[in-house]
Amino acid sequence: MPYLSLYRKYRSQNFDEIVGQEHVTTTLRNAIERGRIAHAYLFSGPRGTGKTSAARIMAKCINCESGPTPTPCNTCPVCTAITKDKLFDVIEIDAASNRGIDDVRDLKEKVRVPPSQARRKVYIIDEVHMLTREAFNALLKTLEEPPGHVLFIMATTEPQKLPPTILSRCQRFDFRRLTDAEIAGHIRSLCSREGYSIDDGATDLIVKSADGSMRDSISILDQLVSFSDGAITAADATLMFGLVEKSEIITFMEAVFSADAQQAFELFQKFFDAGKSFSLFLRLIMELLRDIYLMRQGLNPPRDSYADAERDTLRARARALPRPTLVALMDEVARVEDRIRWEVYPRIILEILIIKMIDLAAGVDDADAARPAPAKSKAAAKPRPAPAAPEPEPANQPAPPDQEPAQANAEPAPEPDPEDPPEEKDPAQDGGFDAAWKSILQSIRKKNLPRYLVFADAAAHMPDENTIVLSYAPENRFKKESAQEKNYADLLRQAASEKFGRELRILFRIDRGGDDETPPHEAEERAVEPEPQPEEPEAQNLSLFEQINETFPNNKELS
Ligand SMILES: Nc1ncnc2c1ncn2[C@@H]1O[C@H](COP(=O)(O)OP(=O)(O)OP(=O)(O)O)[C@@H](O)[C@H]1O
Ligand SMILES: [Mg+2]
Ligand SMILES: [Zn+2]
Repeated sequence: MPYLSLYRKYRSQNFDEIVGQEHVTTTLRNAIERGRIAHAYLFSGPRGTGKTSAARIMAKCINCESGPTPTPCNTCPVCTAITKDKLFDVIEIDAASNRGIDDVRDLKEKVRVPPSQARRKVYIIDEVHMLTREAFNALLKTLEEPPGHVLFIMATTEPQKLPPTILSRCQRFDFRRLTDAEIAGHIRSLCSREGYSIDDGATDLIVKSADGSMRDSISILDQLVSFSDGAITAADATLMFGLVEKSEIITFMEAVFSADAQQAFELFQKFFDAGKSFSLFLRLIMELLRDIYLMRQGLNPPRDSYADAERDTLRARARALPRPTLVALMDEVARVEDRIRWEVYPRIILEILIIKMIDLAAGVDDADAARPAPAKSKAAAKPRPAPAAPEPEPANQPAPPDQEPAQANAEPAPEPDPEDPPEEKDPAQDGGFDAAWKSILQSIRKKNLPRYLVFADAAAHMPDENTIVLSYAPENRFKKESAQEKNYADLLRQAASEKFGRELRILFRIDRGGDDETPPHEAEERAVEPEPQPEEPEAQNLSLFEQINETFPNNKELS
């Protein structure tokens, strides 16, 4: 027998079986009982919450041979035909693929024809917001004067895209996201009906990944079933979905709380290499922070599934962390959580988040750490003594004594920094170099695209107020050489002096993670051009991880 996916097998066939939408099902039941069925309904709500299921149940309620009834029999020919999607008079239309006027015109014709087998024809129009404007207008005509033998049920995940004229002609029901408890309960019940065992950790992970969608939770369970042979465990779930385990998050956050940046970044690297889900990673951090917060207030975290030792660790944190710090941490994580799904470079954003969390936890000035001003960029950072021997693995380097870890790291590379939209303030004042550099690049871009492309590939920084250093990765050596050509370099110098209001030296280098490179034609550059001190340019092209190591070599001292 072919394996029937759980979510098909367990599609709700009765209002009773629809979990968590009582406000909808009760009203519909009552309407059927009282014979007051509207001619058009709109079921709106997130995906996988029961809209289509409810629409089909409604079709059965109306057409069941022992009906109309709020509890269809599910055994008569009409009910079974609807279950199998074979009843001629129940028509499901996917508006996403039948968007046009012709489809709706067609519908207008057919609507007039009375039902052949059933009491009432039921049109279920899924994703109705996808219809074109003309199609809406045609549909509207039908909705205005619907033949008595027709019921329309429209479903949409995006009701705000529907014209008000349509909305005003339907009775609307908003399906809601299912709660964690509802999903967990349903998952457990499906497992017991199927004879599977499932542990709490696995249920928990499914719930978290499903994000309020019952369908998603069931299809995750489906995959786990085939993966785990009857006994589903958190370990399976973790392995299969590349999820991060709670205990790993605790270890990670302990590293953050104790300002052990090296360990925090190593763990993050591990998650990243293992292809773990970023959004789940964030959600677990958020949950952990919330739990610590609750413990701090003397409350018990909901669904407390911590091991005793873990709970002790968290309690100790709860005592140690000031409330505003916790709130600021949650704020910061929530902000990142919000935007991470749209980000092209989620990794960089998460790395920046780690730095910010470390700063916040270490009590580095909140204002600076939470919203690092462009003013705190490298250009403004105090020049640091050069490390003795810059290496690609700078973990062992001595710590410069006068460092400002938060600021030095808040803007690690000229990657588009998500937290700092380019601010057009005087770049000469106290930093803002990243913003200034972006604007210099933009002005070059307007003048000459090829030259822009050559400069845009460099990591730029400003070791002192009269110098800009462009570092190229070794594989971009040819770009560096182009950049140094007079017509290129002049364009840059000119754009820079326009931006800063003074003449600047421009230096070019290849970044080899320590192997400094000074090509002979550096002399073509204006004036005396001592090669920049290696330490800053190194830092520019180090990965964030390496920079952290460099900046927090003995980072435990910060705690
Ligand atoms: N509220 C619920 N109670 C029980 N099962 C549900 C619920 N919502 C969804 N399901 C399960 O998920 C499957 C899909 O649900 P359904 O098609 O009704 O969702 P939907 O809201 O129409 O989603 P979409 O907007 O993606 O079309 C069902 O077969 C059922 O197994
Ligand atoms: Mg649906
Ligand atoms: Zn029936």
